[in-house]
Amino acid sequence: MRKFIERALNKLSKLDTEQIHALLFDLATENERLEVVLDSMNDGVLVADTDHKIVLYNKAAERLVPLTAADVYERPLPEAIDDEEIAEFVRETLAQQHSVLDREFTLEENGSARILSCSVFPLVRAGGIQGNILHVEEITEKRGREARLRRAENLASLTTLAAGVAHEIKNPLGSIGIHMQLIQKALDSSGTVDTEKISEFVEIVNEEVERLNRIVVDFLFAVRPMDLSPRDDDLSRVVADVLSFVRYECEQAGVEIKQNLDEELPTLQIDEKYIKQALMNMVKNAISAMPDGGVLTVSTYLRGDEVYLRVADTGVGIEEDVVDKIFEPYFTTKEFGSGIGLTLVYKIVKEHNGEISVLSHPGKGTTFTITFPIPQREQHLISWEAG
Ligand SMILES: Nc1ncnc2c1ncn2[C@@H]1O[C@H](COP(=O)(O)OP(=O)(O)O)[C@@H](O)[C@H]1O
Ligand SMILES: [Mg+2]
Repeated sequence: MRKFIERALNKLSKLDTEQIHALLFDLATENERLEVVLDSMNDGVLVADTDHKIVLYNKAAERLVPLTAADVYERPLPEAIDDEEIAEFVRETLAQQHSVLDREFTLEENGSARILSCSVFPLVRAGGIQGNILHVEEITEKRGREARLRRAENLASLTTLAAGVAHEIKNPLGSIGIHMQLIQKALDSSGTVDTEKISEFVEIVNEEVERLNRIVVDFLFAVRPMDLSPRDDDLSRVVADVLSFVRYECEQAGVEIKQNLDEELPTLQIDEKYIKQALMNMVKNAISAMPDGGVLTVSTYLRGDEVYLRVADTGVGIEEDVVDKIFEPYFTTKEFGSGIGLTLVYKIVKEHNGEISVLSHPGKGTTFTITFPIPQREQHLISWEAG
């Protein structure tokens, strides 16, 4: 369109009235089409010029953003917004000449809350900055859906956990019952008390009680809400800390540690204490999967807008038919395993909005891959300087 106008302008002196008429008509039609497109959008768009004065906005902007007047053309962008927090955010972002994406605001109106995601970024044209765009998206529904999903997930995992506990306590309870009967028998018969037998049974009952106790303690540990306090931190540093902590243990077990840590990762919002625990659980599993030694490779790296943490071993691997169960509470293939380690890892990763997956080749080794999202503010759509 622009090329067309340029060409037409160059020839303007040679055009007759009728041709100019047709040209204006085409222009008006094109302009109308753009307006219709803007007004059909669900997202609000407000465009300001280099003096921050509003030059364009759409219907969705009027609907989503509380505005100070019915007509806000020519008003400075922050002053057009009738919400203190959003106005302050826009003012600050414009002053700092920053792009900020997806900042969330909650508006309370007549007892119900609306959540808006707001972004401010420069309007770049022909290599220069010609103003700014405020983009507003309503995410109330999306957030509600996410919260419902999380609740459902929590409930589901609580059900599995409870089923796990019920299953786990059956055996020790049964065993206690049997041995109590045996003790009773040993007391009843013929008046002579077989103290040796009885103390043997009592010993067994004691062990089973101890087992029950462990199950309950593990259960409480698994369901305890995590009081996460995430802070800006460098994942590679946290990982290096854990690895230096387990170095000696690995050496003893004949496990060589290979660490490929990206030193320039973007900052993540993590709780160091929990991340360390998760990694520790995975490293311990890896060590016990390599009874004859092997190689433990721990890597961190950036791909797209996610940070990866990968823990790979050259151990016994996981059989295909159980690989889906390893994150379940109490699932263990070890004689004295708790089956809680990976459940906690899973929970910790989820609490960090991350994902975890596993790939295993029986007899060759296992790789756990965790991804963490980078906080939005670390992602800059268009660098201001680039304009
Ligand atoms: N690196 C690994 N290599 C092979 N198997 C693993 C590995 N990590 C976990 N597993 C399997 O997953 C099960 C559950 O692990 P976990 O929840 O930590 O409980 P536990 O270590 O007490 O058995 C283990 O018993 C084991 O069978
Ligand atoms: Mg374990």
